[in-house]
Amino acid sequence: MNGFDTLTIKNVEELTHSSRRVEFTIPDKIISKFKFQPGQYITLRKQFDNREERRSYSICSSSNEPIAIGVKRVEGGLFSNYIFNELKPGMSLDVMSPNGRFIQKDEKKFLMVAAGSGITPIMSIISSNLKYNPLSSFTLIYGNKTTDNIMFQKELENLKDTFLEKLNVIHILSKEFQDVDVLNGRIDENKIKLLLSRKVIDLDVDGAFICGPNSMINNIRNVLLQEGFEKGKIHSEKFYHGSQPISKPKIKSESVFKFKANIEIILDGLRKKFIFENENSNIVDAAQSNGIDVPFSCKGGMCCTCRCKITKGEVTMNANYSLEDWEINSGFVLACQAVPKSKEVILDFDAS
Ligand code: FES
Repeated sequence: MNGFDTLTIKNVEELTHSSRRVEFTIPDKIISKFKFQPGQYITLRKQFDNREERRSYSICSSSNEPIAIGVKRVEGGLFSNYIFNELKPGMSLDVMSPNGRFIQKDEKKFLMVAAGSGITPIMSIISSNLKYNPLSSFTLIYGNKTTDNIMFQKELENLKDTFLEKLNVIHILSKEFQDVDVLNGRIDENKIKLLLSRKVIDLDVDGAFICGPNSMINNIRNVLLQEGFEKGKIHSEKFYHGSQPISKPKIKSESVFKFKANIEIILDGLRKKFIFENENSNIVDAAQSNGIDVPFSCKGGMCCTCRCKITKGEVTMNANYSLEDWEINSGFVLACQAVPKSKEVILDFDAS
């Protein structure tokens, strides 16, 4: 699970003026390590001025194809601008094996909703199923500012041409007028209600997969739940641009932490121990300062790369933008946001 491999860049392709598709070559001997499920992401690592940076990007390729990611350029973003300005075929990057829980079970009929680069994991789910699961069918609601901003436009059109009866794509544009009024604007609660009332979409589906900003996900989730859609059939992945952490965990509550804690990490079947001290802000930082490399990427509670399960003791989390209720109830935490609350804590990074 943990650890990086150095992969060669096979291709860098322009998708839009502000997005790229980056494809990797995977050597045969590690091919099984990079098997992925549609909807997952990989974490990239690179040194910039002797400082290590990590970013997670969703996989856009279909299963059984080489891993490729979709990268949207972030204004001022260190990693995405490096990919845009410097990364070329033949160069290499350190890549962590695929991770993430935005994946399907046995659904056949899907409602997909994406905004902007949120299409990336959804593209992988749609194309994998259409190509390899003949019983699948999709309605995709895809929001962008203008046509020029639509990532994977050509691929979507090709899929529509090939799987005419199985893929329905509804483009919602906020800054380019379309003749049909319901297709103008943003994807929000009203838009979903309108699409439902006009029978452009229906909720007779096995699962709804939503990827975009938090507000959009919450809006859609609310409408679906109001309409009686089963909570467990809603899957979401929040927008993560790979920018800097959105909040720096703080230790301020004396009642939470006023002692040294013994931490034990289980990772790749190995157990490692260290002492968490006051100056450590979270378990990931503390592990790193003790020379223990645990998986992480955003350090902002967004990407879930640092997800692990508490098997002993207690922690508090400063933020959580990615764990679902069932995971928290089952004892999963985000190590990058976790501060010990008890003197003995065991965290299992191998738990799933
Ligand atoms: S490293 Fe991204 S949620 Fe912890």
